[in-house]
Amino acid sequence: MPRKVLVIEDDPSARRLLGYALKQEGYEVLLAPNGLDGLKKAFEGDPDLVILDVMLPGVDGFEVCCRLRADPRTEQLPILMLSAKGQQADKATGLKVGANDYMVKPAAPSDLISSVQSLLVQRVQGAARAIAFLGAKGGVGTSTVAVNVAIAISQRDKRVILVDLCPYSGTVAALLGLKPELTIAGLFADSTDAIDPHDLEEALITHDSGLRVLASAQTAAEYRGFSPSQSEALFNELRQMTDYIITDVSAYPSEAEAMALGKCHPIIVVTGSKADSLASASSAAALVDRLGIAQERLGTVVVDRDGLLPEAEPSKLKEVIESTTQIRLLAIIPYDTKAPFEFEARGTPVTLAEPDRPMALSLKGLADVIVDGDGLASGDRPAGSGA
Ligand SMILES: Nc1ncnc2c1ncn2[C@@H]1O[C@H](COP(=O)(O)OP(=O)(O)O)[C@@H](O)[C@H]1O
Ligand SMILES: [Mg+2]
Repeated sequence: MPRKVLVIEDDPSARRLLGYALKQEGYEVLLAPNGLDGLKKAFEGDPDLVILDVMLPGVDGFEVCCRLRADPRTEQLPILMLSAKGQQADKATGLKVGANDYMVKPAAPSDLISSVQSLLVQRVQGAARAIAFLGAKGGVGTSTVAVNVAIAISQRDKRVILVDLCPYSGTVAALLGLKPELTIAGLFADSTDAIDPHDLEEALITHDSGLRVLASAQTAAEYRGFSPSQSEALFNELRQMTDYIITDVSAYPSEAEAMALGKCHPIIVVTGSKADSLASASSAAALVDRLGIAQERLGTVVVDRDGLLPEAEPSKLKEVIESTTQIRLLAIIPYDTKAPFEFEARGTPVTLAEPDRPMALSLKGLADVIVDGDGLASGDRPAGSGA
């Protein structure tokens, strides 16, 4: 079956030319002369990719892009933005509102076609969803949440790779009782951007639960920073190997971690329940915004160190948390005194050790929200709130 490309472009001659070039390559083509018609055809015409002009009469390309990303039917649709606006800021806006690629007009039809092809290939190969857990500050429970959610998702018969992106202080391996011989540090030893898929396979440790883990350097001596393009190469490789990529990101992300954040949806900010922790969650949101990542991708998880939950009414708590952090609340994880002294000490996460404990149940609920919802359904009760 030919792949279907929707072209949203107001200039009739540019539209015709693009349509012609695509048909020559064997694509089926839908044409739309403005944003509203384009949206209708995107929702109803089931295209495989959209080429989207920015300057359109009425609803402009940035707005079209936002609306496509907000609708579950087109949330994942590859979007190639095409514009006469060549400014770096326009490109950043385009990528921020969710375009997968951005080309400046006039673009040679051959360049356009190759960009279309590569976006479609990425789409076929890159089915994995990437999810980030970002600590609002150190010690709030980010790695614990990431590890348990990764296990809970793998228990739903999904392939999951958990990647510890924290520098040498990463604790994912220890939480799982693993002693890695190979880590992420070894993958980029020769400082090229390319990743050898064979090396990557070898560096992945399979945990008893079925979860696969890419550990971070375990000591400062072993630590090697890596670049954003290396981080991107890693993601592209991982996307072909699994259903879910779960990343543990440190509270002060490096450039490589920032690149990874840009590829994740949702980005889940983990924080504590005290006022100062909630404030640091909003700083994390500001950081994400500075990286040019849309706030809609954010969700927050509160680890209830201060035991607010049994006292406060869940819906009130949700209101307070959301108004302080300005991020949608996905789950409240109860504090469990056995977590640090027993599960962590034994290297067996609570989800495996005692799946019926409230802490485990709320983490499983969070995994369900991630897998079943778009991860950010706003009207939902947060997992773990006794719903
Ligand atoms: N829900 C919880 N209840 C009790 N202790 C927890 C909980 N979550 C995490 N901890 C403990 O808090 C400490 C820090 O957790 P960790 O996940 O390493 O945080 P971070 O990754 O944010 O630095 C660990 O000792 C861990 O066992
Ligand atoms: Mg951690």
